[in-house]
Amino acid sequence: MSNIKALAFDVYGTLLDVHSVIALCERFFPGQGEALSKLWRSKQLEYSWLRTGMGRYDDFWVCTEGGLTYACNMMKLDCPQSTRDELMNAYLHLSPFAEVQDALKALKEKARLAILSNGAPKMLNEVAENTGIRWAFSDLISVEEVQTFKPSPKVYNLGPEKLGLAKDEVGFVSANYWDVAGAKSYGLWVAWINRTGAPEDELGFRPDVILSDLAALPAAIPS
Ligand code: LAC
Repeated sequence: MSNIKALAFDVYGTLLDVHSVIALCERFFPGQGEALSKLWRSKQLEYSWLRTGMGRYDDFWVCTEGGLTYACNMMKLDCPQSTRDELMNAYLHLSPFAEVQDALKALKEKARLAILSNGAPKMLNEVAENTGIRWAFSDLISVEEVQTFKPSPKVYNLGPEKLGLAKDEVGFVSANYWDVAGAKSYGLWVAWINRTGAPEDELGFRPDVILSDLAALPAAIPS
């Protein structure tokens, strides 16, 4: 039985709803908000994976802005710099999922909590403050330290390394299956928050627990 002393959280899609930008996308591009948000997110991640595959690093803000520009170009949306700036700013004010604050309160009783995210340090600091979740976390760990993105094992290794714990004392929590697979491949205990009822990806790695949101996580941590 493992003894989880700390939990490291993915941010985007796990604690914060990336698609809370839909409302602002809708305001600028009526009828296209949801499609824009989806393509934006998908290109943002793709740009992080491609850079990792190429052995290159530009931070997640660059990946996010590049994803937005591509999505607008692909959808033939006229997006001047001022609109782009407003949409990018929305990424610093994403909405936490409804159960997040209560779940963090309960989890903090059981383990040290940290963030382990692709986000650049400035993005993580600002979004954690703006969304009111900063209080819960002892550490905001960014991939910036290793200049590469998830699912590189170098990123997941930052969990035990920065928290000063053994690998089997750190749990990882993500709603993104590819991130779950990356953390399992590295060797952490992993909870998959399957918010959308999606099937598991065929990557050869399975999470230790599957939950529909964070509310049931406190009871699911092995201790
Ligand atoms: C993160 C992205 C991958 O927070 O969701 O790391």
